[in-house]
Amino acid sequence: MDFANSPCPEGRAIDDALSRIGESITEAQAKVASLEDCECKEGMFALAATRRQLFVGTGLVAAVGMTAMLPRQAGAKSPAGAVEYPIPADSTKEPGRMMGEDSGYGSRSQFEGEIRWVNPTRTASFVPMQNSYGTITPSGLHYERHHAGIPNLDPARHRLVIHGLVDRPIKYSLADLKRFPTISRTYFMECSGTTGPELMKASQPTVQRTHGLVSTSEWTGVPLSTLLKQTGLKAGASWVLAEGADGAVMTRSVPIDKCLSDALIVFGQNGEAIRPEQGYPMRLFLPGWEGNISIKWLRRLEVSDKPFYTREETSKYTDLITKTGKARIFTFTMDAKSVITFPSGEMKLPGAGFYEITGLAWSGRGKIARVEISTDGGQTWSLAALQDPVLPISQTRFRFPWIWTGAPATIQSRATDETGYTQPTHQQLIAERGPLEAPGMFYHMNAIQGWGITADGGVKNVHPLG
Ligand code: CO
Repeated sequence: MDFANSPCPEGRAIDDALSRIGESITEAQAKVASLEDCECKEGMFALAATRRQLFVGTGLVAAVGMTAMLPRQAGAKSPAGAVEYPIPADSTKEPGRMMGEDSGYGSRSQFEGEIRWVNPTRTASFVPMQNSYGTITPSGLHYERHHAGIPNLDPARHRLVIHGLVDRPIKYSLADLKRFPTISRTYFMECSGTTGPELMKASQPTVQRTHGLVSTSEWTGVPLSTLLKQTGLKAGASWVLAEGADGAVMTRSVPIDKCLSDALIVFGQNGEAIRPEQGYPMRLFLPGWEGNISIKWLRRLEVSDKPFYTREETSKYTDLITKTGKARIFTFTMDAKSVITFPSGEMKLPGAGFYEITGLAWSGRGKIARVEISTDGGQTWSLAALQDPVLPISQTRFRFPWIWTGAPATIQSRATDETGYTQPTHQQLIAERGPLEAPGMFYHMNAIQGWGITADGGVKNVHPLG
């Protein structure tokens, strides 16, 4: 596969200069390069030495000792992300604290305590959407889903290797990547398991716990197509294995078309380096696709003529269609979805009167075209206002003015994206794919969410099937 060269001399000079970034390696070197650099575990390659290296690494951590691992304590009473300061009797009668007391990195107000909710197995954490403003998720509240915890990677040692069906295997450092032209895009990311437990019944009490595995950030990185232009692609290149440097050696197969369109190698999030829990120092980002395929702590991309059928795309992240008994594999795109964040589960409205219903809508297929609101359990629907700018593959804030009479009500939101696709009901999803009777995971669950408001103003998760 050949990429067209730039038509002008200046463009050719730039192409030529870019082609010298990164370290050219042989295919044989590619097979060990990332392992040597990471002291971590074997992924799709079975290399005997690596298990031993893993144990050496573990011993080192133990030798450092627990005290050194603990973060510096903030004020005893302050919530996470904040520092406790005294409250003056009259703030106009004394100077406030000096700049620099925060060591040069700011913290939020000690009066704000929103935190991610961590599930009991500590494998996922959920965004406090009920108190979110606008569309950007603060980096410290971005949802998490890890398969073996958060590795601590030294950016000076971490490498990304691209090899397989390429003309020139290349090894890139973070510094190498930063020399390429970069782009920034505001994109949502959603776990394909979000709201899965809500298919058959109202399962979780709050919007944080029903829908909190979705977030939006501004991501900065290098288009993967730029790197593949440097490595070249051989005939037959059609899939790419993406491999992480975490303890799970998370791996997924990615179609080459996605790699050559909007795929990014990301190192920036909301104006700073991506957080460790988002894949520091670099991650794959595949806009609009289920979160787990955007491999974090990315260390290797192997180009192939076929998918790899890795653990995370056979035993996990496939969709059992109970109607037929067959499973769907490689279901990547996240369909249109929306949820009302205010009012939402476990809130209490103080009394009848005006409320602004608000929430978020998103689609992996492009822009949100409209969001409709029902306040009568789905009998009638009215258009909500969409907050500009409405960006493709990003969360869109919607707002709807509402006067609550004080009578019980069920409020719902329904999103339609620019392809004309409308968010389904639970019944429609079940009719299409079959019910989920036995315990199991229902991925890509994007049904319309309902919140019931009782006469006393209480708000609870309600489900059309009870
Ligand atoms: Co899927």
